[in-house]
Amino acid sequence: MWWEAVCVLLGAPMVLGITELLQNSDFEVDEFRPEDGAWYPNGCDADWDSESYTGNHSVKVTNRGDNWGGIAYDLTLPGSKNYYFKAMIKLLNTHPGSLFAKVQVMLGVYESSGSPKYVTVGEVRFMEPQMWQVIGGDFSTPADVKKLHLYVQILDADVNYLLDTSTLHEIPTIPSNWRSQADLAIEKYRKADLNIRAMGSPDALKDLTVEVNQEKHEFGFGSAVSAAMIVDSRYKAYQNFFYDNFEWGVLENKLKWRQMEWSEGHVDYDTALNAIDAMLKHGIQIRAHNMFWAVEKNVPQWQKGMTGQTLWKQMERRIQGVIPRTKGKVEHWDVNNEDVHGHFYEIGTGDANVTMWMFREIHKLDPHVKLFLNDFGVVKDRYSTQAFYDQAMMFKNTPNVPLYGLGIQSHLEPPIDMSVLKYRLDQILATGLPIWITELDISEPVDDRKADLYEDVLRLYFSTPQIHGIMFWGFWDGRHWKPVAALASGQSVTPNAAGRRWQKLFKQDWRTVDQVRPLSTGQATVRGFKGRYSLTLKRRGVTLHNEDVILGNGGTNLTISMAGLGDTLHVSNILVG
Ligand SMILES: *[C@@H]1O[C@H](CO)[C@@H](O)[C@H](O)[C@H]1NC(C)=O
Ligand SMILES: *[C@@H]1O[C@H](CO)[C@@H](O)[C@H](O)[C@H]1NC(C)=O
Ligand SMILES: *[C@@H]1O[C@H](CO)[C@@H](O)[C@H](O)[C@H]1NC(C)=O
Repeated sequence: MWWEAVCVLLGAPMVLGITELLQNSDFEVDEFRPEDGAWYPNGCDADWDSESYTGNHSVKVTNRGDNWGGIAYDLTLPGSKNYYFKAMIKLLNTHPGSLFAKVQVMLGVYESSGSPKYVTVGEVRFMEPQMWQVIGGDFSTPADVKKLHLYVQILDADVNYLLDTSTLHEIPTIPSNWRSQADLAIEKYRKADLNIRAMGSPDALKDLTVEVNQEKHEFGFGSAVSAAMIVDSRYKAYQNFFYDNFEWGVLENKLKWRQMEWSEGHVDYDTALNAIDAMLKHGIQIRAHNMFWAVEKNVPQWQKGMTGQTLWKQMERRIQGVIPRTKGKVEHWDVNNEDVHGHFYEIGTGDANVTMWMFREIHKLDPHVKLFLNDFGVVKDRYSTQAFYDQAMMFKNTPNVPLYGLGIQSHLEPPIDMSVLKYRLDQILATGLPIWITELDISEPVDDRKADLYEDVLRLYFSTPQIHGIMFWGFWDGRHWKPVAALASGQSVTPNAAGRRWQKLFKQDWRTVDQVRPLSTGQATVRGFKGRYSLTLKRRGVTLHNEDVILGNGGTNLTISMAGLGDTLHVSNILVG
C-alpha cells in the first residue's frame, strides 16, 4: 500500500524507484574532489576511513578551520521540486567542556541572479559524540535554481567527525488519489468485524433484531482544554462542545511545573486535579502534559541558575509530588517536553542522559502510565525531523528506558504540502514506535479552506496504522493560542466550517452507528470502527436486552443464548470470545 511503498533504505543507490542523486554516496571510493558531482573537503581535511556505518569506508573530516568547514557537495538539480538529504554522522569529539555539539546540514541556494541564500536543511542541536546518528532534512528548489552547495556545519570548529551512508533523492509526490487510498487503509486498519450469533429455537429468534451503536473510539480523538473553563459554570457552552466532540483531554497548562509552582515550594495540585476529575466523570481519557519542559524559557523562574545536586533534588521532589496524585487518572505523560529544542536539565545537571533518568523515575512510581517524547517542528519544519528520530532511536535502543511512544505536536500553517508532510512523518514511522499527534492546530483564517486542510491532515494521520491518537491543541477561538485555528467561535461556541467538518468525520464518517441487523437466521455481522459499543436486542421494537461490547483488533465474536418464548423470551447467556 502507498505508505509502505515509500521506504528509503540508506545507502542503497536505488530503492523502490527512488533514484540516488549523489555520487560516491556511501564513501566507498577514495576520491574527494572539488568539482560538480562529488563530495569534497571545503575548509577541512577529508580522509578515507576504514570505520563505516555501511560498506567498508566512511570519510573522516578533521582540521576544520571554521564552523562552516566540512565535507561539501556542489550540485545542479531541477527547480520547483522537493528533495530529501540524509547521512550518518559520528562525532569524534566535542568542544572541551561541552556535552554536545550543534550539527547542521546547510544548503547554499544560487538562483540566476542575486546572492546565494542559505537554508538549514537539518539540525541536531544536542548531538553526543561517539555514536552513529542521522542528520538531514528536506528542501525545495526555487524555479530558477542555478546551483546548490550542500555542506555539513558544526558550530564548534574543533569537532571532527566521520560521515557515511549519504543519500539525496527527490521526495515522491503523493498519489493524486491518495484520499481514496487512505480511506481503504482506514477501512483495513481502523475497523473490525463484530460477529453476533444468536442461539435459540426458531420461534425464539423470530423477529429478533440487534441494533449496534459505537459509544467510543479505540483511536484517541481529543483536545487540549483550559483547566479553569472545564470546571467553571460560566463556560457551559465550552464544556458541552468539548464533551460532545472529543473523547480524550489534556490540560493546556496546569500540569506544567512553572504553572503549578510559581514560587518554590508552593505547589498547586488542586487546579489540575479538579479539572482532571471533572473530565474523568464524563468518561474522558487523559494525557498529562508535561512533567518537565526542556526549553529554558519555560522552566520555573526560581529554578534558573540551579545546577548539579540542587537541580536533581528539585526534579525528584517534582516527580514524587505529582505522580502519586495522577496515578490511575492519567494514561500518558509527556516527560521532558521539546527536548530536541532545549536541554535545560541535561546542561544543568551535567548529565547528558538525565531525560532517561526521568523516564525511569516516573515509571517506578507509576508502571502503567505511558511515557512520551513530545516535540514540535517534527513534521511542520524541515530541520527537526531527524533530530527527533535520533533521540527516539537512542531511547529505544538503550536498555531500561521505559519509552512508550512519540508525540508529534503538529502546529501547522498553510501552505501544507501533503507530499512533504507525509515524507517527514514516514521518517518518524521508521522508529517503529507508537505515535500520537499531540497538539494539532492549523492556522488558516479562511474557514472553508481550514476545513479542507484539517480533513486532509486528519485523514492522512487516521489512515496511518502506527498513529494511535490525535489531540487538537484547543478548539474555541475564545481560548486558543492561535484563534484562527479554532473549530468553534463566539459566546455560544458555535462550530465553524472546520468544526462542522470535524463533527462529520468524528460522528459520522469514522463512527459506526444505527446499524440494525435481523437475527432470525441466528447470525449477523457488523464491520465497524474499533471501540466500545452498545448492543440493543429488540423484538418487534421492544427492547429485550442491552449489552456493552468492545470491538478490538481481530474482531469480536458474541454468542447470545435466548430462552423462553413469547412474553418470557429473554437472554439467558452472553459469551464474548
Ligand atoms: C567491502 O570489502 C569486502 C571484502 O574485501 C568486499 O568483498 C566488498 O566488495 C567491499 N564492499 C564494497 C561496497 O566495496
Ligand atoms: C547516554 O546514553 C547513550 C545511549 O545509551 C550512551 O551511548 C551514551 O554514552 C550516554 N552518554 C553519557 C554521557 O553517558
Ligand atoms: C470468531 O469466530 C470465527 C469463526 O469461528 C473464528 O475464525 C475467529 O477466529 C473468531 N474471532 C475471534 C476474535 O475470536
